[in-house]
Amino acid sequence: MDTMVHSSQELMQMEDKYGAHNYHPLPVVIAKGEGVYVWDPEGKKYYDFLSAYSAVNQGHCHPRIIDALKSQAETLTLTSRAFYNDMLGPYEKYITEYFNYDKVLPINSGVEAVETALKLCRKWAYEKKGVEQYKAKIIFASGNFHGRTLAVISASVDPDSTTGFGPYMPGYEIIPYDDIAALEESLKDPNTAGFIVEPIQGEAGVYVPAEGYLKQAYDLCKKYNALFIADEVQTGIARTGRLLATCGNCTCSSHCEHNPEVRPDILILGKALSGGVFPVSAVLADDDIMLCIKPGEHGSTFGGNPLACAVAMAALDVIKDENLAENARRLGDVFRQRMQKLADKSELVTLVRGKGLLNAIVINDSPESKTAWNICVELKNNGLLAKPTHGNIIRFAPPLVITEDQLHECCDIIEKTIMNFNI
Ligand SMILES: Cc1ncc(COP(=O)(O)O)c(C=O)c1O
Repeated sequence: MDTMVHSSQELMQMEDKYGAHNYHPLPVVIAKGEGVYVWDPEGKKYYDFLSAYSAVNQGHCHPRIIDALKSQAETLTLTSRAFYNDMLGPYEKYITEYFNYDKVLPINSGVEAVETALKLCRKWAYEKKGVEQYKAKIIFASGNFHGRTLAVISASVDPDSTTGFGPYMPGYEIIPYDDIAALEESLKDPNTAGFIVEPIQGEAGVYVPAEGYLKQAYDLCKKYNALFIADEVQTGIARTGRLLATCGNCTCSSHCEHNPEVRPDILILGKALSGGVFPVSAVLADDDIMLCIKPGEHGSTFGGNPLACAVAMAALDVIKDENLAENARRLGDVFRQRMQKLADKSELVTLVRGKGLLNAIVINDSPESKTAWNICVELKNNGLLAKPTHGNIIRFAPPLVITEDQLHECCDIIEKTIMNFNI
């Protein structure tokens, strides 16, 4: 094992030399994290305004989650599902009561949970809806990002995700996002199994659909007997100021009253389900859907492992006990107000959008330009880490444990950086 202390420069060179070139990171190395802060190997401190794409909602290395990890790691880590383990049942009870579903299927990464939901949706279509064998269609929204497997990129319209990876999965239809008429047209096909949607399209650039879109989409799915599947891998677990983005404008604070605007037939969670500690994801549904999958038909060696169960329960406890949904809701308003003021006085920022603490600013330049990237490099130099998404859009998603004072300090950094930036 290499125990040498390396500089940021050396570490970046090592990744470049020995790692596959499937990412293009901002030139900063993170060596330590605590709450809303991260540090590079040279000791420079930054605000983390990406939160590992909304996985670290509870803040870096949250002590309660790390304690749960440590104590479970010393007891039992993995059994596989060949046997029962003493953490899975309590976790399944905990998470299904937390989100108000009959059953959970535990898995690891976000994309695996999406794959699980797609398989479940097809199985339900054949077994319950009576769709002719292997004719099931799943509807996706254009601009979606559901992960990187072949089945999932087959529904992508982003050439970076798809080019060179065909042939693609059949049985999909892609319709425009936030377009109810297009959804109804597509749902009329009797082979439709379901519609999968991100309540806010995060990767695409934090696109928030029109008020009422999700509810109308859900109602249409019911009208045409198709499943409404919510991919809340990025929007879920307090990020948008509600426990789930599909909760709509509910005002629950420390505890969920289970009165959401939309209750998805299948709910997909990942990322913050572990507070960013390691990959834990989940698919939730009621019995009539979930029990369509029988023993041996789906699974994963690591899915539902005792370590994941302990970590996820602690991560969900933190969300509730620290009122993170409420904090995101309140501070999200403060953040957008500050950014709107900036947009009003800066030529560089044309638009501010988002919900809770999932927000973005649109930079006044072409999507192909390097301006948003260069602004992010300047933000980094000024002590704040954020990343462009899709060209000229910068996403801002700090850990939800951020305080109002810290948020104002971050807004000051963003404001100073943008006002002093020369294209
Ligand atoms: C909405 C959504 N779904 C699925 C995924 C895939 O999750 P993972 O990267 O853990 O596979 C992501 C990742 O960013 C996402 O934002």
